[in-house]
Amino acid sequence: MTGFRRDAQDHGVLGSVRLSQLVREADVELPAYVYDVDGMTETLRSLRHAFGDAPHLVAYAVKANSSGTVVRAFAAEGAGIDAVSGAEVELALACGVPANQILMSGVAKTDAEIDLALYKSILAIQAESVEELVRILARARATGHRADVSIRLNPGIEIDSHAHIATGHDSAKFGISESDLTAAWSVIDGSDGRLCQVGISVHLGSMQLSTEAYARSGRKLCDVARERRTAAPSLRYVDFGGGFGVDYGGESTVPPSEFAHTCVRTLRDAGLSDLMIVVEPGRSLVAPFGVLVARIVQTKRSAERRWVMINAGMNDLIRPALYTAKHRVELLEGAPQAPDWRVVGPVCESSDDFGFHPLGAEPTGLVAIRDAGAYSFVMASEYNGRPLPSEVFVKAGKVVSVSRSPGRKNWLERRLSS
Ligand code: LLP
Repeated sequence: MTGFRRDAQDHGVLGSVRLSQLVREADVELPAYVYDVDGMTETLRSLRHAFGDAPHLVAYAVKANSSGTVVRAFAAEGAGIDAVSGAEVELALACGVPANQILMSGVAKTDAEIDLALYKSILAIQAESVEELVRILARARATGHRADVSIRLNPGIEIDSHAHIATGHDSAKFGISESDLTAAWSVIDGSDGRLCQVGISVHLGSMQLSTEAYARSGRKLCDVARERRTAAPSLRYVDFGGGFGVDYGGESTVPPSEFAHTCVRTLRDAGLSDLMIVVEPGRSLVAPFGVLVARIVQTKRSAERRWVMINAGMNDLIRPALYTAKHRVELLEGAPQAPDWRVVGPVCESSDDFGFHPLGAEPTGLVAIRDAGAYSFVMASEYNGRPLPSEVFVKAGKVVSVSRSPGRKNWLERRLSS
């Protein structure tokens, strides 16, 4: 479960194969994402193992990487899915995830998405506001279905993460705050059984580097679950959320198994061990096992300054521009060495900038942008007339599938007909 590494000749390797060989074998246009699917499934397996005998469901937050190859591999390992749109629910079902292992979160589910969840009998619709509960009830009545729901609690806990990816604080649009719980319970209890509360959930935000806040919100969640249980005997699960951090280089973080242990301990201490534990990790299962391979187009020097221009930009990987995220950029052939170069893309925006990286005296050839398995391809766009990048999937050292870039012509045709 190492992700990108270097072999004895300092060539970049993913899984067990040199990346230069993989992109040659796949015969794709660059830039291309390359994924080590085995690394992802091994991480999932070891996370599941960490729950021991405790009943649990790992509901993979599919927004992190929604490729069919990844979702099918996770489904085969017994994962469930946390979806945030009707399309993600349909993707999960089509990839073989059982409906009763699919959750639907999100603050603005449309009626059509609620109906889909009802018709498909997914595990639960996770309600993020009292107003939404009322809408779910209306759809349940209109369609003649019973709606299995979970309440997503907003625990009012700040985490030490980028402001754009913290979700569990008082001013976030997510979840139902404690002061509104009574109103939520009364919608459920007054629904004549049309709303059936099966769960209670929380999600604090992404990139938690320790389990401290996770444990605190978990305790709050369990307190609410314990109190609510008498009135809602249908309660089956407690969902502690996702947000397990990864090391993008220099951050020290705890492994996913520590989060699993925290859930087991918290539930046991609350006397709720008969309930199922749900977690919703996205990033930690996939980020380290993807790289974006790009080609150096040219270098530029001006006085003391040095730039390396590559053929991948913020449209392919927006995290640096959006969150000032740092992804290590390394030559595919040759170990990192001084001097540092400022790596930039071709997009006409100053924020199309991957930061400074040690690329040696005269960088040429291919580079790997590391830890790009999560929130990377899924957030790509066609800005500046740049087609979506290719994707290459590797299992057991072999390219098992390739999703080719739709290409420039495809972009051109669609724009001309618009
Ligand atoms: N559950 C819910 C309800 C979520 O909103 C999220 C992520 C997750 C689970 C999974 O969180 P994870 O384990 O992946 O941290 N685009 C940003 C991250 C946004 C996260 C959104 N919600 C980034 O690139 O850092």
